[in-house]
Amino acid sequence: MTALERTTASASTAPERTTASASTAPERTTASASTALERTTASAPTAPARETHNVQAGRRPRSDMDEHRRIAGVEEVPEESTLLATLRPVDPEAVDEGEGDLGEGEDGAPEVEAILTRAAGEVRAFRNYCQHWTDVRLDKDDGAFVRNGEVFCQTHGATFEADGGYCNFGPCEGAVLESVGVTVADGAVYLDDDGYDFVRLGPSAGKGDGGGSRIDFTGN
Ligand code: FES
Repeated sequence: MTALERTTASASTAPERTTASASTAPERTTASASTALERTTASAPTAPARETHNVQAGRRPRSDMDEHRRIAGVEEVPEESTLLATLRPVDPEAVDEGEGDLGEGEDGAPEVEAILTRAAGEVRAFRNYCQHWTDVRLDKDDGAFVRNGEVFCQTHGATFEADGGYCNFGPCEGAVLESVGVTVADGAVYLDDDGYDFVRLGPSAGKGDGGGSRIDFTGN
């Protein structure tokens, strides 16, 4: 083969590779796009039927809304108070010893509490400790004080917006309650948070006595 023939042969090969590569890229893109569409289409009919509200931003809705994650019926969640539930942190190291809702199960594993309310029109859930003094529980096993879409801390009167937990008044103004992800499906509230497992309704172990020694500003 002459030099000219070699050059020609080499040049004809290069475009073939380029073409092959280029034709592959769109195929991959198309396949990926169709997969995404299929997923979207597949999940679309489910949403209206389940009336799902994942209130935990950035957390993935769970598909396993089975009975062991069912917290309560929607109607059991009050609009002007809170419903108390006990959760178990998946990672025991993720909880702070200073958090007032922290208890200990019979096996020694930590338990924490969630408060659920419908004060914002939809079910919302938060960890049961104030952002001012974190050892203070908002719901001392008798329901937190809730009015006009706000959850009150009765120790120093801080108010937290029930739709997102933002403190709009009080000594911890600007702080935000720690959210717990919940989902409403078929008239029930399910835990929808990868950080916790549902244990039971009611206080965490050792927290059913009115909760703490600090006296609140109402004198209780
Ligand atoms: S402990 Fe809640 S406002 Fe002070």
